[in-house]
Amino acid sequence: MAVMGKTKSVLTLSGRVINEVISFMIFFVFDILDFLLCFVYKLADFLIEAEWKPCYCSSGKEAIPGSGKILVSEQGESKILCVSTSKLQLEEISDTLHTRPFLVSQVSNLIVTALKRLMFLEKTLVQSCDQEIKQGSPPSVFRVNSPVIEILQRKVGRKQLHPIPRWSDCDCNVCISWTSSSKETLYVRAEGPKGDNAQEDVLFIHGFISTSKFWTETLFPNFSSATKSTYRMFAIDLLGFGRSPKPTDCLYTLKDHLDMIERSVLEPNKVKSFHIVAHSLGCILALALTEKHPGCVKSLTLLAPPYYPMPKDIANPSLYTMKKLAPRLVWPPIKLGAAMACYYEHISRTMCLVLCKNHRLWDFLTKLVTRNRIRTYLVEGFFVHTHNAAWHTLHNIICGTASKVEGYMDGVQDQIKCHVNIFHGEYDDTVPVECSYNVQKRIPRARVKVIKKKDHLTIVVGRQQGFASDLEEIWRNASRS
Ligand SMILES: *[C@@H]1O[C@H](CO)[C@@H](O)[C@H](O)[C@H]1NC(C)=O
Ligand SMILES: *[C@@H]1O[C@H](CO)[C@@H](O)[C@H](O)[C@H]1NC(C)=O
Repeated sequence: MAVMGKTKSVLTLSGRVINEVISFMIFFVFDILDFLLCFVYKLADFLIEAEWKPCYCSSGKEAIPGSGKILVSEQGESKILCVSTSKLQLEEISDTLHTRPFLVSQVSNLIVTALKRLMFLEKTLVQSCDQEIKQGSPPSVFRVNSPVIEILQRKVGRKQLHPIPRWSDCDCNVCISWTSSSKETLYVRAEGPKGDNAQEDVLFIHGFISTSKFWTETLFPNFSSATKSTYRMFAIDLLGFGRSPKPTDCLYTLKDHLDMIERSVLEPNKVKSFHIVAHSLGCILALALTEKHPGCVKSLTLLAPPYYPMPKDIANPSLYTMKKLAPRLVWPPIKLGAAMACYYEHISRTMCLVLCKNHRLWDFLTKLVTRNRIRTYLVEGFFVHTHNAAWHTLHNIICGTASKVEGYMDGVQDQIKCHVNIFHGEYDDTVPVECSYNVQKRIPRARVKVIKKKDHLTIVVGRQQGFASDLEEIWRNASRS
């Protein structure tokens, strides 16, 4: 027994070492590839759209695709200053968008420093630089990038920068259906009683690269008829995903997402108090929404919430969360996917070009291969979005809110009475089960249910019947108290 245990731990250890070594090499290649792709896309954008498209490889100044928007950065946090004719406002964007640590730049910095040291080159220059850094501006003061003034003068009031859709995005009817509608609201699939029969409302928020079909194709048909006749259900496609608007000059901040949900569901349907069911990235929006509308949320059901508690002395919470979410490993494959999506702006754009722009082809092939046996709503969920939307949403919602999520949880714990239920799949590789227990540490009244042998998707897909009755019980209990 002991020998077996020892062999096992040796194997695990060597497996981990091999994983890290291979990961290091592969990500080094990716770093270079992303750097090269940057030039390829710069050129392609220029040739096809006759305009240089800014990206986050360059300085913060260039990184703002919107009109009249200015980047203001502070240590560990960045904000966008929106200038419109009537008001000024600050929107939070994630630091991780323009300060992703690249091996290439780290290594080249190391080499440069080493060379300088070695050759005693410009010794005094290095010293004066060091001094400057040490003296640096105090963190409470905004360091406004100097070209900001120039942008202010140049960009105020400028209209749509890029054509819709962009050349690298899909132009099928589903993807651009929003452009024909006059009002810019989210795509909402509403079900349940019309008019006065509705007694309760439920808002469903899907996760990263998914759509409302995640709920409507699985859960909705499995509710009992009693539930269907008393609950109004609203399943949305988030801004930038599925059939919802995918503006190219948007930064997909938390505020953008919340505003859209309010404008598309809560206001037009006069929803006053409601239940929320959210999956993965949607959990962060759900927490923010609950905190913003205290007293309105009757129950909060979170599936696989990506919450990574922050140690006290972390200088840059966004970066910390990104490293937790995507630790730059090639195994398990889902971690590789996460790292590609988080770290590489241009590689992930290439993936979108292959997958999202051709999603109809993938849809067709899936149908062909599986002979129509599986429904293809998941394929649509994965591939119907733009790179701009996915890239910004991932950074601004999961990483960018890292410093605020604690506050949302405290708000839910201390000021809000709603029931909190959390579900997590035992085999979830995308978001580990600890995340749910961590939420429970912050909100002790939350009930955590770990579902055996289920992962990030099968927590709902394939378990719809059980989950539907769980939800019915949760809503019943919430109304009773
Ligand atoms: C539950 O939903 C699935 C489709 O997702 C459907 O095939 C099944 O018949 C439903 N079960 C009930 C009891 O409605
Ligand atoms: C609902 O309430 C009943 C009775 O109080 C309790 O036994 C059950 O565990 C509760 N379920 C949930 C999901 O809150």
